[in-house]
Amino acid sequence: MPRPISATLSLSSLSHNLRTVAQQLEHTGAQVGRPRPHIWGVIKANAYGHGVELALQGFSQADGLAMLDLNEAVRCREAGWKKPILLLEGFFEPADIAVLDTYRLSTTLHCQEQLTMLSSASVAQPIDAFVKLNSGMNRLGFQQADYRTAYQQAQVLQQRGILNGLGKMTHFARADDDPGTTQQQLHMFNQVTQGLPGKVSVCNSAATLTSGLWATIPDQQEQWVRPGICLYGASPFASQSAASMGLQPAMTLSAELISVRSIAAGEGVGYGHAFVSTKPMRIGVVACGYADGYPRHADTGTPVTVGGVRTRLVGRVSMDMLAVDLTDIPQARVGTPVVLWGAGGPSVDEVAQAAGTIGYELLCAVAPRVPRIIT
Ligand SMILES: Cc1ncc(COP(=O)(O)O)c(C=O)c1O
Repeated sequence: MPRPISATLSLSSLSHNLRTVAQQLEHTGAQVGRPRPHIWGVIKANAYGHGVELALQGFSQADGLAMLDLNEAVRCREAGWKKPILLLEGFFEPADIAVLDTYRLSTTLHCQEQLTMLSSASVAQPIDAFVKLNSGMNRLGFQQADYRTAYQQAQVLQQRGILNGLGKMTHFARADDDPGTTQQQLHMFNQVTQGLPGKVSVCNSAATLTSGLWATIPDQQEQWVRPGICLYGASPFASQSAASMGLQPAMTLSAELISVRSIAAGEGVGYGHAFVSTKPMRIGVVACGYADGYPRHADTGTPVTVGGVRTRLVGRVSMDMLAVDLTDIPQARVGTPVVLWGAGGPSVDEVAQAAGTIGYELLCAVAPRVPRIIT
């Protein structure tokens, strides 16, 4: 018998979330008389821990897929994905360019080194590219002063038949919490890219879900948004739940109680006795620990659902187990189902918040040893 723990992955939730985002974009588009932006479904990090192959099915209606890993991109092509694929960090060495060529992968161009590598490449078919501006994230992208020169170099590569369609791209640092910074970044993007031909791609989940932000971009050329986390049913915003935006959790981490005991007032639970009871309690032990990807930093009080009833984690999370408060759930016994996060339990964002992290990290960190069930 395997340990009673699994991650259930919902294909219909992935599709639902994509549809929800598309409908919101369509709605805004209809209001401002613009077509809805195209959607790159972001599936980096093995589709935020959900599996690339599952995401291919769940996001079959996306206009394209965006990711980082060349091998994952190749897997998508080999699994039959025919629409565009964008590499969000582009390529890393000259040999990668042949893979882009063979598998028809679009690239981000964010640094001079990439332009130099391309200038001595030969390709069977020219490659689509987005030239990225550093508008304030200070991660990837050409500086404001260098951007138009880089774009012109890309245009020369286009004339030489190495590049095909060109686009303009940037990434927001604070679309989730600071509209002012986003507006400054957008203003810089609009100014720097003004008059340059090509598609536009700027919005992650937070920007995509910020009502009508994409439609304020004066450039009327084809726009491509890049939502990731919201497609998996988690929220990009600290203060707005995914459910309130009509999103459904695509991953549910569940387990079972494997032990139940009563303790007296003054007894400690788990390593370090980080929790000490102040009254008689019933404690349940769940077959899930940090080696499964549950955050060790989740504190006493982190929400968890046992037999459909919401309760709390108590004490320190161990490698393979954690303890929960069953005092008000007298019916709970060994074998009672537990939802750590997802459908029928707390949201991954609630657990992440209690552990001082973000839902992204928890979804990506579920350990390979946890069996996946696809529904
Ligand atoms: C360049 C780029 N675009 C889009 C995304 C998707 O972001 P999110 O998951 O917040 O929607 C990411 C993720 O970090 C990214 O790095």
